[in-house]
Amino acid sequence: MILQNNSLLSEKTNKSAELFEKACEVIPGGVTAHIKYFPPHPLMMEKGKGSKLYDVDGNEYIDYLLCYGALILGHGHQQVFDAVTKQMMESGTTIFGTPHKMETTMAEKLVELYPGIEMVRYTNSGLEATLLAIRTAVAYTGKPKLAKFEGHYHGGYDQVLVSVNPDMDQAGNATAPKAVGESRGMPDYYIENTIILPFNDLESTEKILRAHAHELAGVILEPIQGGFIPAEQEFMEGLRRITEELNIVLIFDEVKTGFRISIGELKKYMALNRILLP
Ligand SMILES: Cc1ncc(COP(=O)(O)O)c(C=O)c1O
Repeated sequence: MILQNNSLLSEKTNKSAELFEKACEVIPGGVTAHIKYFPPHPLMMEKGKGSKLYDVDGNEYIDYLLCYGALILGHGHQQVFDAVTKQMMESGTTIFGTPHKMETTMAEKLVELYPGIEMVRYTNSGLEATLLAIRTAVAYTGKPKLAKFEGHYHGGYDQVLVSVNPDMDQAGNATAPKAVGESRGMPDYYIENTIILPFNDLESTEKILRAHAHELAGVILEPIQGGFIPAEQEFMEGLRRITEELNIVLIFDEVKTGFRISIGELKKYMALNRILLP
């Protein structure tokens, strides 16, 4: 179904509207992440199958979202279902809270697939992954600050919630962007101490990195901004060279793109990267 306007949407999605109203009573804004909201109300899904989603009003949709890429194989893929069920039956539980040999099996697989990865640390979310990578960079270099690219998202915490989607009238010059906080309630510290870089502009990025090299622990970026604007190869190679020279850790955040472009597509970038050792 294509919902062309709000009145058609309202007509076809009464139950969604009702459930959303109910959700608003106990969940702030009625959604578990603001990205899931759209007016007049988000759609409440009932089930998924393959490439399709079905809402509580019985409407069928093609699911282009696929849980922001996490469900790249579609809903209820038989092999995934079978593997999860088999593992749970064999293990006799859903979670151990202790080490398990499969952690190593999967880490070995990741190391094998990504030439830039030597070791793996698992986290529950992208936010935790970038937070730990940045902390590691600060610990490793002994320098305090982070540089990130304008327009790049790395999670919803203060240190990186800067210049993700800034108002153009506050964002400054495109070649020397200003740090703009994305939310009220953020301490000034992070806005003052986060260096913002222009993506795919090697000359300007180099100038800024050289000016701040003495205080920069790391540069973090999405190698494919937002999942759809790729870094140019020359830009990535330059960034690797400059950060190595200046003892700045280069961090690739692939929450959206890891294994979703293809299993080996990002190898050319990852081969440039060493997350822990600049
Ligand atoms: C590139 C990138 N980094 C970090 C995150 C944060 O991940 P999470 O929502 O799992 O904390 C996201 C989420 O969309 C992301 O796209």
